[in-house]
Amino acid sequence: MNSKANDSGAEILATPATDTEGLSVPRHVAIIMDGNGRWAQGRGLSRTEGHRRGMEAVRNAVETSRELGVSYLTLFSFSSENWTRPPLEIQFLFGLLRLFIQRDLADLNAKNVRVRVIGSRERLTSDIKGLLDKAETLTMRNRGLTLVIAFNYGGRDELTRTMRAIGEDVAAGRLPASAIDEQLISSRLDTSFMPDPDLVIRTSGEMRLSNFLLWQAAYAELVFLPLYWPDFDRAAYLEAVREFSSRARRFGGIAARRSP
Ligand code: FPP
Repeated sequence: MNSKANDSGAEILATPATDTEGLSVPRHVAIIMDGNGRWAQGRGLSRTEGHRRGMEAVRNAVETSRELGVSYLTLFSFSSENWTRPPLEIQFLFGLLRLFIQRDLADLNAKNVRVRVIGSRERLTSDIKGLLDKAETLTMRNRGLTLVIAFNYGGRDELTRTMRAIGEDVAAGRLPASAIDEQLISSRLDTSFMPDPDLVIRTSGEMRLSNFLLWQAAYAELVFLPLYWPDFDRAAYLEAVREFSSRARRFGGIAARRSP
């Protein structure tokens, strides 16, 4: 419990101190969930077991985001480059997505979580597309946390799709080339419904973006944590937010702006 002196010098009891007090909370947190395979291999387990445990960490991340009052949580769940993995691992990851939607959707909906999906749906099977549509439709009116699942997502692929669509509009005379500016491009990306990420977290100690939110992360604070994704718990999340909270964001200017 915090205590402080009032004017007469007497001690008054303030609200209980918590480990989240005074933190400036990012509006949008985006996470590269890396290290499931290494987590499992280090324990003599299969890579798929690592992914299964990674799913638990996803649930924790959703809960901590809600507790902190984060508005958008984007999770890099399957990248456009993950197709090069062994077919069985790909199948397993698709199975996990299926399971996540079948098992967790009702609970997410009850908690007022809105689910959105970004990425290309082109190579996805119709049952996966149906489940993704179902998750988005069921939760579309929710106003709590927005959970964004980046599935079959790659930043370059997203930009390529967007540029192609804009190019088609210009060629068809629907859009003058002079109307193309940063705002227009942002409004045509998969992420048009949300603000850019304030904080990008990557687990596993690797320090790169790996094609994640390339346009949107232009001014994000990057935090790299030296633990594998299945070990990402509330304490690790708070450590990343504390680090974010301590940084001065200037957005290319000179006056330090406090994080939102
Ligand atoms: C990276 O670890 C993780 C992935 C490629 C998949 C992440 C998926 C989940 C945590 C579960 C699915 C989540 C949802 C929301 C449906 P890695 O395999 O690259 O690990 P490594 O680098 O140690 O090999």
